[in-house]
Amino acid sequence: MTALDTEIATYTEANPKSKQMHERAAEVLPGGDTRNSIFWNPFPVYIKHAEGTQLTDVDGNVRTDFVNNMTTLIMGHRHPDVVAALHDQVDHGASYPAPAPSAIKWAEILCERVPSLDKIRFVNSGTEATLNAIRAVRAYTGKTLVAKCEGAYHGNHDAIQISVTPPVDKAGNAERPDPVVMFPGINPGAADDIIIMPYNNLDAAEQIIRSRADELAAVIVEPINGQCGMIPAKPEFLQLLRDLTNELDIPLIFDEVISFRAARGGAQEWYGITPDMTCFGKVIGGGLPVGAFGGKDEIMNLWDPNHGPDFVQHAGTFNGNPMTAAAGVATLELLTPEVYEELERKGEKLRQMIRDLIAELEVPMGVTGATSLFALQFTTEAVTDYRSYATNDKQMLQTVFTGLLNEGILMSNRCAGNVSAVHTDEDLEKFVAALRRVLVRAGYA
Ligand SMILES: Cc1ncc(COP(=O)(O)O)c(C=O)c1O
Repeated sequence: MTALDTEIATYTEANPKSKQMHERAAEVLPGGDTRNSIFWNPFPVYIKHAEGTQLTDVDGNVRTDFVNNMTTLIMGHRHPDVVAALHDQVDHGASYPAPAPSAIKWAEILCERVPSLDKIRFVNSGTEATLNAIRAVRAYTGKTLVAKCEGAYHGNHDAIQISVTPPVDKAGNAERPDPVVMFPGINPGAADDIIIMPYNNLDAAEQIIRSRADELAAVIVEPINGQCGMIPAKPEFLQLLRDLTNELDIPLIFDEVISFRAARGGAQEWYGITPDMTCFGKVIGGGLPVGAFGGKDEIMNLWDPNHGPDFVQHAGTFNGNPMTAAAGVATLELLTPEVYEELERKGEKLRQMIRDLIAELEVPMGVTGATSLFALQFTTEAVTDYRSYATNDKQMLQTVFTGLLNEGILMSNRCAGNVSAVHTDEDLEKFVAALRRVLVRAGYA
């Protein structure tokens, strides 16, 4: 029996109702749910209540949540101010066939905190945010080609589901990666409209961008790459992209769906580098479905129905809906500079404690991350891009992920995590103690 088999046996025994629910769910929902990002084998746990940092599943197991709905819940679950704002809004109606005043305040807060935003539009997911930002720059420039980084996830739409987690043997040269369509059903032609850059590789990115500069509608980049384990861009990499796109007159899009939690003004404030367009999601909706995109007037004004014949059509039944606006405004108002300082302190403390544990037990792994974001890496390589991330030992990852579930800790199924404003130092110590027990069980002592 491998360490993974043992962890799975313990897990299966401790979660009988989730197992049963999964079997029932799989009759009507492929794989037992509607999001592959929260699927894991042998079955996921089904949650019945969440409070602060704690999740209770249908079997009554309580776990400390280090996922926070994929980095969304920066104030933890059911923060009283957010709950009150939602109660208040639902008493006035859940959605209207006309604009709600709360969306104005929401937009004002974001435009004030993120100076690169002249205007913003709300949608219901990060996927729609990048879809619309890409559409925006294509409309603005009259060009089609987009440059993105290998290993970057920018949402679940055809234009960008390219080279997210490509098999390395199909992905070509590390310095000049081939675009790889991620799965069947995506328009194969989408790969013709994308060029792929290696993350954090300045020389390669410069050559790739310069080689097709005349055709580029945009360069899109995540300041902190979530997919490969919350890897921060080297500041000089982002600066190169900014300088190059300025020189070549190509709009630069920051996908801040995750990285907006880095600072009050997002990762662009944290790095001091300003894009032309920004995509948002997660945190800004306070736990409800959300996305947004915004930037310079000259691009965003194309969305104004009075702009003229070249305006860009944009509808969406729930765009800017008052429930999400209420939760979003309540959350953003809680996010003072002091909260961000604490988030960063706790993130750094946790990463350091994990580093110390890895060194003490001499485990072939590492930890990546920045600000409140972190991820375990099951490789001895320094993970700075997709190719180094791809050296992760998947069996060990699953062993640790399942072991942590058995120890009352929830990470994402790729062993990424984040701290919220309501995690305490005791929660961080609990995480490290749990990780220690899991690693000892796996044979590291
Ligand atoms: C960087 C990034 N962009 C876009 C998205 C898509 O957001 P959503 O899941 O809300 O569609 C995600 C989701 O995790 C993301 O991490």
